[in-house]
Amino acid sequence: MRFTLSPGGNIRGQVRVPGDKSISHRSIMLGALAEGVTRVSGFLEGEDALATLSAFRAMGVEIERHSAGEVVVQGVGLHGLEASSAALDLGNAGTGMRLLCGLMAGQSFDCELTGDASLCSRPMGRVIDPLTLMGAKIDAQAGGRPPLKISGGRALQGIHYDLPMASAQVKSCVLLAGLYADGRTSVTEPAPTRDHTERMLRGFGYPVERKNGVISLEGGGCLEAADIDVPADISSAAFFLVAASIAPGSDLLLTHVGVNPTRTGVINILRLMGADITLSGQREVGGEPVADIRVRYAPLRGIEIPEDQVPPAIDEFPALFIAAACAEGRTVLRGAEELRVKESDRIAAMAEGLTTLGIENDVLDDGIIIEGGTLAGGEIHTHMDHRIAMSFAIAGLRAQEPIVVLDCDHVATSFPGFDVLASELGLRISVQAD
Ligand code: S3P
Repeated sequence: MRFTLSPGGNIRGQVRVPGDKSISHRSIMLGALAEGVTRVSGFLEGEDALATLSAFRAMGVEIERHSAGEVVVQGVGLHGLEASSAALDLGNAGTGMRLLCGLMAGQSFDCELTGDASLCSRPMGRVIDPLTLMGAKIDAQAGGRPPLKISGGRALQGIHYDLPMASAQVKSCVLLAGLYADGRTSVTEPAPTRDHTERMLRGFGYPVERKNGVISLEGGGCLEAADIDVPADISSAAFFLVAASIAPGSDLLLTHVGVNPTRTGVINILRLMGADITLSGQREVGGEPVADIRVRYAPLRGIEIPEDQVPPAIDEFPALFIAAACAEGRTVLRGAEELRVKESDRIAAMAEGLTTLGIENDVLDDGIIIEGGTLAGGEIHTHMDHRIAMSFAIAGLRAQEPIVVLDCDHVATSFPGFDVLASELGLRISVQAD
């Protein structure tokens, strides 16, 4: 499908966007491996998290889906999974595949992990390397790409691993393999990344230590079932934070949004650009900080994005580049080479689309320089990337001419119903079949 955006409009109202993708994946994984019944509410019924759910069903875990976002997982314990008769297909989800690699390395049976064309072009060496050091055997395609064949029945050893890149997926993979390893498994990261795995393991009664920047756990314990209330995904809220910030007359309340400090880079960066964002009703829900976020239109200015804000905003840069395009002056991003190995090369894909819309930009190896300006219209290629699609959709608010965003099917991986919700809030969006 494609989105067509008519120019103009603003964003007003109140909304709770769908559940957090990172937490939804982990709720299925940890719930499946726990002793007892885990009840999840606010689960993201997007294709990525549903692929993880199907993978665990294929390994013999009973998982019921009730009303919207209510999922009940009958845990089988850390050693209760069964071999799947077919390869486990994680669809578009890097998180599903990389975290499962860690868990599968510790099983008694062999398994194969695969995914769609985008996932099968993404690097898995970053998880294969530490898992191999722990004693796992994983066969990949050329360049460490999926499909992956993971051998079962390997005795894993705890290791210490210094992450070469700031990646929560790699950190989580190593820690999850550590559940099955002999002795202690520890990691250090070059910069703090999202800590949902650590928080949720603790929530399932599994001790995880963090001391002097070293995160560690001891293998051989067990997880106890826990109820999980998944907050709204700040990564989905981000499109509306930017949309309301760039469209005059906007005033939006986003409710029950997860504001874990390892995820709030988008708020920090938008505020540095001059955005009018206020948080209220801060509370803790199931070990995760949650708040309501009000955002009103404000003129934005270009900034040098502080490099320490890159990991906590890593998924929000496509939306932030639209903010930069609408800002007064120049925005500079560096230290963000990880954007090149997301669902698409997000630096290249965004630069291409911004150029189509007449926004001057210079691509750097590890970032981009964007000159704020006037957005024309045009046809945008998403490179099958959900976040590229939604970012150029909100650009319609400030465009002079219609924008047509091609290949938007992948939006359903993280934000099912985006077009309907966005339209209710004031985005002039219509959907056509390709
Ligand atoms: C995620 C970690 C990040 C992020 C992804 C979700 C997670 O990936 O981009 O959308 O849930 O752990 P990296 O670990 O590759 O940075």
